[in-house]
Amino acid sequence: QKRLGILTSGGDCPGLNTVIRAVVSNATLTYDWQVLGIPYATKGLLETKAIPLSLHCLDLRGIDPLLSMGGTILGSINQGDTMTQIDDILAGYQALELDALIGIGGDGSLGILNELSKKGNWQFIGIPKTIDNDVALTERVVGFDTAVNTVVDALNRLTYTAASHDRVMIVEVMGRTAGHLALHSGIAGGADVILIPEIPYTIKDVCDHLRLLRNRWGRRFAIIVVAEGAKTAIDFSYASCGQPTCGIGQQIAEEIRSYSNQHIDIRVSVLGHIQRGGIPSALDRLIATAFGKAAVDLVANGQSGKMVAWQNNEVVAFPLETVLSQSPALVDPNNYLVQTARSLGIYIGNPT
Ligand code: F6P
Repeated sequence: QKRLGILTSGGDCPGLNTVIRAVVSNATLTYDWQVLGIPYATKGLLETKAIPLSLHCLDLRGIDPLLSMGGTILGSINQGDTMTQIDDILAGYQALELDALIGIGGDGSLGILNELSKKGNWQFIGIPKTIDNDVALTERVVGFDTAVNTVVDALNRLTYTAASHDRVMIVEVMGRTAGHLALHSGIAGGADVILIPEIPYTIKDVCDHLRLLRNRWGRRFAIIVVAEGAKTAIDFSYASCGQPTCGIGQQIAEEIRSYSNQHIDIRVSVLGHIQRGGIPSALDRLIATAFGKAAVDLVANGQSGKMVAWQNNEVVAFPLETVLSQSPALVDPNNYLVQTARSLGIYIGNPT
């Protein structure tokens, strides 16, 4: 009986447990393999730990909670100093007597797992997940849709309180170096300004836009969605952990206050890790399930070093090397959504 390992790596997101469920289902029902969950990604390999996973392993009155449960039952770590422990990780993999490994991760984790699999000669298949949506060559990744919905829900709420108090509400969202989350949620959630790392903007233009909203449309409030990776003209300081001491949302608030000579009532909401939680949306469940099934089939077909991807409503596979060479995939400043935002009168930086 084949022994298939599965692990989740990097930041969590909704839909990881749904992938695990699909992998266990297909591997056991179609192929009669044994599936072993590796806790805490490469840390589990290092420590030679594995949890046998079976269908309905968390069964509650016949309900399978994995379908809709956020987070990951396997736990996860950001890979950190993994590459300094290569030999021990390879030894752990061997000791677990795994025939193949499926890893669910973003581009960083998949890159490390791909390197390890080449060194250890493992059969390895990757599944892309990230609320940042920045993995190349796939139109969808696990977790992004739920995060967009979470931000949109927050924007719905913030719009009403902003309107009640005639305030400018700045909403800082995650995304690392990419603006996909801000762009998608900003359009869907009715933002007036969207600031993303890929498109330069000026505080003067933001302030002009706020004035236009008020003077031309009589709007007394505004919603600004800013991606955490968007840069301001002013440098701000970094704490020893590498995090900015003050987030970009707060920075922009300060800059608007100091630029405009009239009083503007501004509040900042940093959505933070709320964006990583929650039950996966229907779309994320579909993607997670289709990816989990496809990854197991790829293992059965003897494939390795591949990542499953979503293209034209189908699951396809690409060599991980090709995907990684094009990741992180950032927002194309001239893409259709950016043009759509501009056509709605949203300020989204300056066209290049
Ligand atoms: O990559 C996902 C992500 O949520 C980013 O959007 C964010 O910058 C980062 O992870 C936060 O990481 P951590 O959970 O380590 O604070």
